Amino acid sequence: MNHGRGLSCLTAHSHPKSFRSTLLSTQKRKSAVILGAQWGDEGKGKIVDVLSEKFDIVARYAGGHNAGHTVIIHGKKIVLQLIPCGVLRPGCKGVIGNGVVLDPAAFLNEVKKLQDAGLPAHDPKAGQLFVSNRAQVILPYHRMIELAAETAPGRQTIGTTRRGIGPAYEDKVHRNGLRVVDLLNSSLLRTHINNACHEKNTIAHALFGTEPLDPKQMYEDYSRLAEQIAPFVTDTEYLLNKALDAGQNIMFEGAQGALLDIDHGTYPFVTSSSSTAGGAVTGTGVGPTRIDTVIGVTKAYVTRVGEGPFPTEISDATGELLRARGQEYGAVTGRPRRCGWLDIPLLRYSNAINGTEWLVVTKMDVMDECAEIPVCTGYKIDGKVTDIIPADIRGFESIVPVYTTLKGWMTSTEGITEYDKLPQLAKDYMDFVQDQSGAKIGVISTGPDRVQTINLPEFEALL
Ligand code: GDP
Ligand code: IMO
Ligand code: MG
Repeated sequence: MNHGRGLSCLTAHSHPKSFRSTLLSTQKRKSAVILGAQWGDEGKGKIVDVLSEKFDIVARYAGGHNAGHTVIIHGKKIVLQLIPCGVLRPGCKGVIGNGVVLDPAAFLNEVKKLQDAGLPAHDPKAGQLFVSNRAQVILPYHRMIELAAETAPGRQTIGTTRRGIGPAYEDKVHRNGLRVVDLLNSSLLRTHINNACHEKNTIAHALFGTEPLDPKQMYEDYSRLAEQIAPFVTDTEYLLNKALDAGQNIMFEGAQGALLDIDHGTYPFVTSSSSTAGGAVTGTGVGPTRIDTVIGVTKAYVTRVGEGPFPTEISDATGELLRARGQEYGAVTGRPRRCGWLDIPLLRYSNAINGTEWLVVTKMDVMDECAEIPVCTGYKIDGKVTDIIPADIRGFESIVPVYTTLKGWMTSTEGITEYDKLPQLAKDYMDFVQDQSGAKIGVISTGPDRVQTINLPEFEALL
């Protein structure tokens, strides 16, 4: 594998000294965005946890509790939805950025989960977990409207997680949303809930015949929740920029995946936020010049939950085998994930729109029993081969994937921690993915546990 390309842009000396006078010129800079390169569930949670050892802060920048990030530490499983996975490391701070839509009850449930697991992040006095005062709040009418719209006859079903994510972002863009800072202002909260309930109840009843929500009860519930989250709330833009000034390292934790991005994904079968690397900037208030690298997480194959196009989907027994071996069931909704072969055109597209320099390939062990591994290297559309992703969702229907079939390694790779110990055919697969995708492979994951990980030396040296 060629690990000798493109590192010079990541060293400290390539940035003018005057840019941040407090930073020692010899210090390595390593703020990084880590994101899903596919349709989500690539194993970001595990990888963020593994890499967070090297970072002072992990900041979530988009989405909400539609995400489900699984971390397994010495056999103990924890699924986080809103709280960045970095907080599982003592001393690593977690920040929920302004780009996130926050369900206060879901947040407090997660805090309780950390408390039950004996982790300090549950205690705001520990100064380990922070919530942006500019994040938008998800309220019960967001869920009500989404549920009604998703199940209404004649409407396009997206297969959402039904957490109210889309309607909360709609209100944000409509300049009609409630931000965390407003949640903490009692009289503003009361007025907002009264007005919003009047409007949403009327719309939902007229369109879907939905029973109205009670604003009085909602105000009481959310006042209580506001009190509990208040100690976590701060100006996270300042916190993050000051941390960078002080030479600290930040990992920006993506949720969902590039192909679920509201602009660049397979619209309309997407989520409602900017899950791509650009979202890290708008979703935290840290400028692009302060982010050093982008790390994309991809499975060795592809999965998708919910509706939408999927050119390399496998509908035979091999798909079942991958689902069973990979435990491909949604971490949030428990829905079976659709499985398919690795799709290079989509991976290249993802790498391009994110500026991905490094790839992490997860779930290699899941393919241990595949005698042959087809990889899609191009699309045949109307008889012509291309790797351009159609913008028009209907264009996906005419895609015939062009496959290159590689030989499977047919031996266990589970738990391997050294690259040299991988079977040659598994190395060949990784070489193929690296060469075809154009991004360097920095980490290979060989099992769900934190320790079942291979760090490639050049990547390790970078961090
Ligand atoms: P995320 O949303 O990207 O954080 O991913 P999820 O947690 O939703 O789904 C990934 C699933 O794959 C989880 O059950 C992980 O425990 C599991 N996982 C992660 N990496 C590996 C791996 O290398 N091998 C196997 N077998 N499972 C993995
Ligand atoms: P993580 O962070 C996989 C999918 C839903 C649906 C679409 C829109 O765990 O990778 P939404 O509720 O966001 O409006 O649903 O997006 N989706 C995900 N799929 N992983 C996720 O997050 C997802 N978050 C949303 O299944 O198709
Ligand atoms: Mg997930």
